[in-house]
Amino acid sequence: MKILVTGGTGYIGAHTIVELQQHGFEVVIADNLSNSFADVVDAIKEITAIRPVFEQIDLADAAQTKALFAKHPDIVGVIHFAAFKAVGESTKLPLKYYHNNLFSLVNLLNTMQEFDVNTLVFSSSCTVYGQPETLPVDEKAAIQKALSPYGNTKQIAEDIISDTIKASPLKAIMLRYFNPIGAHESALIGELPIGIPNNLVPFITQTTIGKRDCLQVFGNDYDTPDGTCIRDYIHVVDLAKAHVLALSRLMEKKNDAPCEVFNLGTGTGYSVLEAIQAFERVSGRKLNYKIVERRAGDVEKIWADTHLANTVLGWKAEKGLDDMMRSAWNWELKLSEKKN
Ligand code: WQD
Repeated sequence: MKILVTGGTGYIGAHTIVELQQHGFEVVIADNLSNSFADVVDAIKEITAIRPVFEQIDLADAAQTKALFAKHPDIVGVIHFAAFKAVGESTKLPLKYYHNNLFSLVNLLNTMQEFDVNTLVFSSSCTVYGQPETLPVDEKAAIQKALSPYGNTKQIAEDIISDTIKASPLKAIMLRYFNPIGAHESALIGELPIGIPNNLVPFITQTTIGKRDCLQVFGNDYDTPDGTCIRDYIHVVDLAKAHVLALSRLMEKKNDAPCEVFNLGTGTGYSVLEAIQAFERVSGRKLNYKIVERRAGDVEKIWADTHLANTVLGWKAEKGLDDMMRSAWNWELKLSEKKN
């Protein structure tokens, strides 16, 4: 079965394609390379011995999107990752985020309708919850007003998809990621932010390898045991496996409703300082960091209620924080070997 993976040269997309191909799916990647590199396709081939088809297109362009589906009329399902995802950047460039993230989605859904493709797995985010009132947060929790344009594009996207489902044969599963970190055990694919990393773990590994001087810890005056923010970090390979289960659930018509939502987290929260301690433990290196003021838009603490994904999707995160940090560090070491 041929699956279109949009944003497939990106961090989570690439890891998901490895799992899809290892489960016998045929993959076409649509990506505009605005935030990733084409050599990821070679790495996927090296890991799985199968080269996915790669189409460099901009999904925000309706004509290019239609041409893609016309070229691959045997696409039976779509996993949609393609979106800009930096919380901080989105507050500075809101129109870039609304245009890219929402025009791409509308074009994709329109074209799927035109070509009668009615199976969608959507990459959503725990950002839709804002700061939950109760923790762990479950899928029925109130959707708070987004704290950033990025988070708002995810909320609006979920509404666009659920409204489209009500008016068409579309079936979808929306996966709300918590904090994806780590890399494939081969260290051939991993997180590769362009420029200064927005996210914690690539900043930790780049500081330790010497690409950055010092990690800034954004605030230690939160209402948490050590004062730093708490997040539910999840290994990107665990996350990728959930996408194969979600896609198969739809393809085999096992979904209980036309639109299902699942949290993808471990159910355990760790503070920034705990994450740093885990990294230092597994890398054997000392991280240079300092505490600075809070970052605007940061949620104080969030971790997932994973009951629905565990019982209905039949998925459970297997890897712990040490595994995540070890794989992230191995990836950074491999990157630095390539540079030398
Ligand atoms: C984690 C913690 C920071 C950097 C965002 C999106 C989410 C997902 C992941 C797409 C926070 C602290 C960070 C640094 C720090 N994106 N931190 N110094 O903001 O929880 O989630 O990225 O899928 O949708 O919302 O992730 O890694 O930026 O931050 O102290 O240099 O690390 O304050 O507490 P975040 P993050």
